[in-house]
Amino acid sequence: MKVCIALTKGRIEKQFLDYFQSLSYCIEPIVNKGRKLRVETDEFSFVFAKGVDVATYVEHGIADLGIVGDDILMEFQPDVFDLLPLPFGNCRFALAGEKKEAVSGKKRVIATKYPNVTTAYFRQKGEAVDIVKLEGSVELAPLLGLADAIVDIVETGSTLKENGLVVLEWMQPITARCIANRSSLKIKREQITPILDSLQIKEAAR
Ligand code: PRP
Repeated sequence: MKVCIALTKGRIEKQFLDYFQSLSYCIEPIVNKGRKLRVETDEFSFVFAKGVDVATYVEHGIADLGIVGDDILMEFQPDVFDLLPLPFGNCRFALAGEKKEAVSGKKRVIATKYPNVTTAYFRQKGEAVDIVKLEGSVELAPLLGLADAIVDIVETGSTLKENGLVVLEWMQPITARCIANRSSLKIKREQITPILDSLQIKEAAR
């Protein structure tokens, strides 16, 4: 049975495939995959999903390995092996808002896709806040008056800048990670070990 690798669609997928190709793995069938969500190469079976779903497929053993951002692991804490960091997907959680945040003395409202990370951050600061969960484009929330600030990931900073927001406080750094299903690591050890070795060797050589 081929090793099944679940990739987070979007930026992480592109960066992983470039990296994987640089390790001399063939990704030819994936390059023109169009809207397909499952692609077979000679060696691997690839599936493409949203980050949290990558973690779910790995947790359930549908995928043996998964490539996800640390943000997903921190927020959802899936029951998987977190094997190693990868040399891409570097960004940071941040609290962001408009430059002159109104100081009203009232509890701040924070919009985010990451309520657990946000709760932990403000608990540790000792500040009580109200959290509004959004599914994306959270930068809109302060602009439209839904929230005073947001907690989100910042990579280039362009999204904040183009929407007139600034970083108020930097939070944890994030990178892409390789995760594995706990049973797959035992059952497919012979197939998985060389993949992890090559990912690690390149990482160590940086
Ligand atoms: C992420 C994040 C920010 C943006 C940051 O969103 O939530 O909106 O990227 O990147 P930047 O600092 O390089 O501009 P994503 O593109 O995943 O879309 P979403 O907000 O709709 O989830």
